[in-house]
Amino acid sequence: MKKTRYTVAVIGATGAVGRESLEILQERKFPLEALRLFASKRSAGESLPCQGREWRIEELTPGGPFEGIDFAFVSATDAISREYGPRLAEAGVTVIDDSAVFRMDADVPLVVPEVNAHALASATRRIIAIPNCTTTPLVMVLKPIHDAARVKRVVVTTFQSVSGTGAAAMDELIEQTKALLSFKEVKAEVYPHQIAFNCLPHVGSFGEGGECSEETKIVNETRKILEEPQMRVTATTVRVPVLRCHSEAVNIETERPLTPNEARALLSAMPGVIVFDDPVRKLYPMPLDAAGKDEVFVGRIREDRSITNGLNLWIVSDNLRKGAALNAVQIAEAIIARA
Ligand code: A2P
Repeated sequence: MKKTRYTVAVIGATGAVGRESLEILQERKFPLEALRLFASKRSAGESLPCQGREWRIEELTPGGPFEGIDFAFVSATDAISREYGPRLAEAGVTVIDDSAVFRMDADVPLVVPEVNAHALASATRRIIAIPNCTTTPLVMVLKPIHDAARVKRVVVTTFQSVSGTGAAAMDELIEQTKALLSFKEVKAEVYPHQIAFNCLPHVGSFGEGGECSEETKIVNETRKILEEPQMRVTATTVRVPVLRCHSEAVNIETERPLTPNEARALLSAMPGVIVFDDPVRKLYPMPLDAAGKDEVFVGRIREDRSITNGLNLWIVSDNLRKGAALNAVQIAEAIIARA
């Protein structure tokens, strides 16, 4: 008989994404049988609320026990995903992982349900990866454009909030801002430079060719999700002093012509995307408006007259929700619906 309630584990429950997962499980009335919250020794014994109950935080240790858990949302560190992903999967748990560790593995589906839910059928290892928080909104916008007009090349520049780095980075931005406004010394610990009142063209680590790991992720993950291994994609990723929501300036070259109005119509019909585009009335997506929202917002849709068949647009999405926790919960919901 099909289960109607599920035991869910949140690994990294006290982190920026973990806390958002609890909010989303509550808001969406996810059919919980029980919740197991895992974090480090520092947080063990504390508790967090969800669906009207307090759930005690357990220290994550190899011994688990993990048996009986149906889904685990893993959002802690790469090292934790690497160690515990396979361990959980062996214990029969369906792992929905937020790290970059498994994303490019051929036998791990990389899923945005609105774009490629069909890929869930190939989850032979019980591990499913969610994309990087900049890739998810990007592919949601590219998908309908690609289906209609074939995307030839994408040039994306990101404006990424500090919550993408985690709770400590959010504290750092607030502390630095307070220090600057009271003429005190500024300490940079999470980032290599002051982030308050600044922009860092540096997200992740630098590769040999000078690209950031975040830029490489956008290229590879977009190709994998859209099933276009040769698609020409290039990215520049920038950390900005915003607490929540990632923005992206996107230039798209298509094979077939697509007017801005046709693009607006296609994007309006895409589930999970909202076209918010009336610049004359000063209406365009902004991080402060998109924070806490589920949808990916698109605006500034206009022709790029410097090339044949070019479009420019601007995307804003809440990196903790659709960029991470919401996408993961939607994957669990899609698996339940398919069972
Ligand atoms: P804790 O709060 O106990 O340190 P963020 O991405 O916001 O920095 O959050 C990271 C999450 O990963 C937190 O929940 C954190 O728990 C958890 N975490 C970090 N290191 C470990 C570890 N060694 N074992 C278990 N959980 C960890």
